[in-house]
Amino acid sequence: MVRLWCPQCHEYANNNHIQNPATNKLHCGHCKTVLVDWDQVDEEIKRYEVVYADPPWRYEQMTVDRNRAIENHYPTMELEEIKELDIPIATNAVLFLWATSPKLEEALEVLNAWGFTYRSSMIWDKQVMGMGYWFRIQHEILLVGRRGVIKCPPIDKRIRSVIRSKRQEHSRKPDIIRSLIHQWYPDKKKIELFARDHFEDWDVYGNETPNSIQQRLEQ
Ligand SMILES: C[S@@+](CC[C@H](N)C(=O)[O-])C[C@H]1O[C@@H](n2cnc3c(N)ncnc32)[C@H](O)[C@@H]1O
Repeated sequence: MVRLWCPQCHEYANNNHIQNPATNKLHCGHCKTVLVDWDQVDEEIKRYEVVYADPPWRYEQMTVDRNRAIENHYPTMELEEIKELDIPIATNAVLFLWATSPKLEEALEVLNAWGFTYRSSMIWDKQVMGMGYWFRIQHEILLVGRRGVIKCPPIDKRIRSVIRSKRQEHSRKPDIIRSLIHQWYPDKKKIELFARDHFEDWDVYGNETPNSIQQRLEQ
């Protein structure tokens, strides 16, 4: 279905539009502005409707054993750098954002800074006990944020909010999550931020992947 968007009222006008018989153009019934097909607009300006992100969180130096420092695996980013990332995100979009337990509060800040509102979360049980000052951490959290109007996944494709999948190499997340998001939003324009692999037709951003949109944006 075409989504008729009023750029003046900032809302859909599918049920409230009028047609100019001289030009055949569709106008907002409220302010008379010419309506646009929102999917078309997002496609033209290449905005992402589905964002999957796994940021390289930076931890306090003093709290991390030098041998276990994340910097031994890849460079990390300050919270402000992550928040200021300039990725073209559609007006109507969904975000799936990985957070570790100590970074939960910062992850919610990032979610908000990118223009999303927190909606839900799920837990990945890594089935292997790690380090931790309060608990020996065995899980990571996947936050869901929504921006504008985007459908929840179909009811028959929703899964339980805990997945059990044995932890593999450092920071690698279970592939099932990407596949799930792909099934949920097959036709939406998708990007994985801080990716290490390419998946299906998704765009990627990350310093460990060839063809990152970072390189294309810099060309
Ligand atoms: C937590 S890991 C992502 C792991 C990935 N989700 C997976 O399942 O394999 C974070 C990634 O962000 C990358 N990264 C670090 N700083 C970056 C930057 N400034 N720009 C782009 N990518 C960066 C790291 O090299 C690393 O590949």
